[in-house]
Amino acid sequence: MSPGSARVSVRPPAEQVSAQQFAEDVAFYLTQTPRQLPSRYLYDDLGSALFEAITRLPWYRLTRAETGLLKTHARAILAACAPLTDAVELGAGSGAKLAQLLQARDSGSDALRVHLVDVSRSALTAAARLLVGLPATQVITHEATYEAGLAEFRRNQAGAGRTLLLFLGSNMGNFDPPQANELLRQIRNALQPGDLFLLGADLLKPERELMLAYADPLGVTAAFNRNLLVRINRELGGDFDLASFQHRALWNAAESRMESYLVSTRTQRVRIPEAGFELSLHDGETIWTESSYKYSREGLFGSLQDAGFARRQAWVDEDAQFALILVQR
Ligand code: AVJ
Repeated sequence: MSPGSARVSVRPPAEQVSAQQFAEDVAFYLTQTPRQLPSRYLYDDLGSALFEAITRLPWYRLTRAETGLLKTHARAILAACAPLTDAVELGAGSGAKLAQLLQARDSGSDALRVHLVDVSRSALTAAARLLVGLPATQVITHEATYEAGLAEFRRNQAGAGRTLLLFLGSNMGNFDPPQANELLRQIRNALQPGDLFLLGADLLKPERELMLAYADPLGVTAAFNRNLLVRINRELGGDFDLASFQHRALWNAAESRMESYLVSTRTQRVRIPEAGFELSLHDGETIWTESSYKYSREGLFGSLQDAGFARRQAWVDEDAQFALILVQR
């Protein structure tokens, strides 16, 4: 890489999360039983900023625990992966965690291509700015869903060396087990034999801790959730009355997941013209906006092995109960 050459390349969105797709998904999912909205739509610019705020809440320890593990074990993780030519992060967000890991690279390391996949353009811009400051690092952003980002990464991988793919932050927790297993398969298929996969996942912990993390006393998580309605109002001409919806978090022990809902506090009718439909909600009716699955370390290894990975190593924050799991294709 010659000095001064552009080190951030922005790929045009492969399969852009288009306004059309958003309208179709809103119409489809809001009319399902139970009513729901896909959690990936929580991350517009404001939603991404609110999520960043959540990661700083005293009650939401997940991100700090993971960042701490990455910081403490950066050298061990990098050593287990060396030599690397590519790092790919799905759902990179602010890029802070990847930066935490990569800053432990030796000075004079070989050039590394960093591929960031995220549906939020503002998050990608911020992450690229952060990571491009690291030595010998080229950043390629993919404004795309995980699936489209993976497919695009794979298409451009001919002749590359070893890759570390990262899926951190317990982002997998938004997927129900069959979808998560399918995604793990897709990740495995996007990699070459010998490539590595680092999965960050939140572990089971007492219900009272989970409730505080997902229904925080400051109401930031409530704002994050309700912002989905703000987004529908803005982008699809909806007329959701924000004051008539409450955030609710629930621990579902049988499914091992936190569930987040928006609860209608009165009987009401909502119009969403650009999604082409109206909906009637009764007092207390819920819209399910997110699942956040919680795992056991052995359960994670099991799913990864079923997806075709070989077990390498695990690092666990015993206090916050968060795991980083390294496996190899
Ligand atoms: C970014 C999906 C991992 O499920 O914990 C935080 C999002 N939702 N608080 C999670 C979230 C409510 C978060 N993930």
